[in-house]
Order: sequence, then C-alpha cells, then structure tokens
Amino acid sequence: MYQFKDDNGFTVTYSYDQHPFSKAPAHVFILTRYNGQWVLTQHKKRGFEFPGGKVENGESPVEAAAREVMEELGGEVGELIYIGQYKVDVDPEIIKSVFYTDLTSLTPKSDYHETDGPVMVTGDLLSERFQDDFSFIMKDETVRLSIEYIEQKLDGG
Ligand code: GTP
Repeated sequence: MYQFKDDNGFTVTYSYDQHPFSKAPAHVFILTRYNGQWVLTQHKKRGFEFPGGKVENGESPVEAAAREVMEELGGEVGELIYIGQYKVDVDPEIIKSVFYTDLTSLTPKSDYHETDGPVMVTGDLLSERFQDDFSFIMKDETVRLSIEYIEQKLDGG
C-alpha cells in the first residue's frame, strides 16, 4: 500500500493488489498507449489526462474502461490489464480501478464527450505531467506507480 496527499490535499491510498478497496469500483482510469506512445485525452476543464470515468449501471469495470477509451479517444482497446486500485478520501470516497491497454486502433471522431480527443505524448510523461495544462489527476503518485508497473512488469524492462 502506498499513501500520499494529492494536489488538493486529500489522502490517496494505492495498491497493486486485486481489488483492495472494492470489487465493484465506481470509477476506472486507463493508461493507454498506441504504437509505443502514451495517449492522453484533453479534458475540456481539467486538461491532459488518461481516459477514465464512472462505471455505469450494469457495466463491469472492464466494460466501462473500454467504453471510456472509445468515447474519449476513439480508441479500440486491446487486452485490458488490471494494474491496481486507489481510494481518494474525499466525501463521498472515490475508488478507482486502474487498467493498462495497448490500443489496437485510433479513429478520428466528431465528438469526444467532455474532452477534445486524443493527444500523443512525445516527451517524458513522468516529468511533463507537472505542467499547468495537465489535469490534477495526472500529478498523483498513482500515475507514477502505474507507469512503473507497466515498464517493469509488462514491458519487462
Ligand atoms: P462529476 O460527478 O463527474 O460531474 O464530477 P466530479 O468532478 O464531482 O467528480 P468525481 O465524483 O469524479 O470526483 C469528486 C472529487 O474526487 C474530485 O473533485 C476530486 O477531488 C476527487 N477525485 C476524483 N478523481 C480523482 C483522482 O483520480 N485522483 C484524485 N487525487 N482525486 C480525485
């Protein structure tokens, strides 16, 4: 378990365990890559961030993740790999499952919901994410822990 304060001063707890906080999390967050590059969405209010959102009634977290990636990026997901889960101690509490996927396609759309669609990251995401045009969500330690997991356990590096 890892614990830290987020950009707003709320306590965030992150774990790589299987569903440490909830088997039915209300939120999902998906780290996406396409042809080896990280793909973010440009949220109209919060700025650049990985796609994500709320799990709708009747959906599984994996189904919600695939839907959010299509809505916010126009991306078709490959295998959705569970990375971990985190809890934000806001009221009411937020629990998010984090997934990784390598997109199999990225097709332009006319509407990307609350976002302006996909943006490919060309530089080093772990340092670029602290710039003002990135969402507060990207500044969390959760992003660093998730990227480290992908690079060390999935990329084998
Ligand atoms: P909607 O209900 O979607 O309109 O939006 P909302 O902005 O109220 O969203 P949500 O329920 O997703 O989040 C409520 C609060 O939880 C936010 O204002 C944040 O303080 C916090 N929060 C949500 N997601 C995250 C996250 O991924 N990381 C951190 N650190 N805080 C989050």
